[in-house]
Amino acid sequence: MSVRICPSILSADFANFESELATITDSDLIHVDIMDNHFVPNLTFGLATVARLQQLSPKPLDVHLMIENVDRWAVEYAKLGVFSVTFHAEATENPTELAKLIKAAGSRAGIALKPKTPVANYADSFSQFDQVLIMTVEPGFGGQSLIEATVQKVRDTRELLDARALSTWLQVDGGIGLENIARLANAGADTFVAGSSIFSHLDRNAQIELLRAAAQAA
Ligand code: DX5
Ligand code: ZN
Repeated sequence: MSVRICPSILSADFANFESELATITDSDLIHVDIMDNHFVPNLTFGLATVARLQQLSPKPLDVHLMIENVDRWAVEYAKLGVFSVTFHAEATENPTELAKLIKAAGSRAGIALKPKTPVANYADSFSQFDQVLIMTVEPGFGGQSLIEATVQKVRDTRELLDARALSTWLQVDGGIGLENIARLANAGADTFVAGSSIFSHLDRNAQIELLRAAAQAA
């Protein structure tokens, strides 16, 4: 199984993104959390910062929108040339239409579900997406503990994807570290976001390799 590790710069030093990004050489992507203080009770940054990150980043950017007005903003992020734009299903009436627009603008499209949002409600739209993001914590903050019930949801999502013979990536985000990444990989996740469990260590690449090895061995 191919495993992708995506360090989340939510846990990096916000005043030094350039030097923080330069410490990462072994990841597949860089995960970028956009929060608007409405969809989630926290605020990060917007388009102008992502435009600059796009110039600086040694790895492709995986943008995770935790904002209300995705129909207004998601395509603007895709137009920056980022690798992927993931928006929350809870934030739009028509996820498949928005997926088409993101892909037409040149990025991969992802759909994210909060822990309490039933995955079966969206399974029939998964064929329109390149990646499905199952949140393993309530979105908004780094450093939280994984919600155990979400492991079963990852398993359910894997079954729904396999039943449709889809190669859509199954991404997980929140509370992921060495203590649980193998269980999530066993449940069917293949793409792993990790903020605090990577950035709290001085040698980020060593941590990325440990996480990757644990997921691959699962
Ligand atoms: C949380 C964000 C995550 C966050 C994860 O809402 O979507 O990407 O950075 O942080 P950790 O890995 O510390 O839980
Ligand atoms: Zn995220």
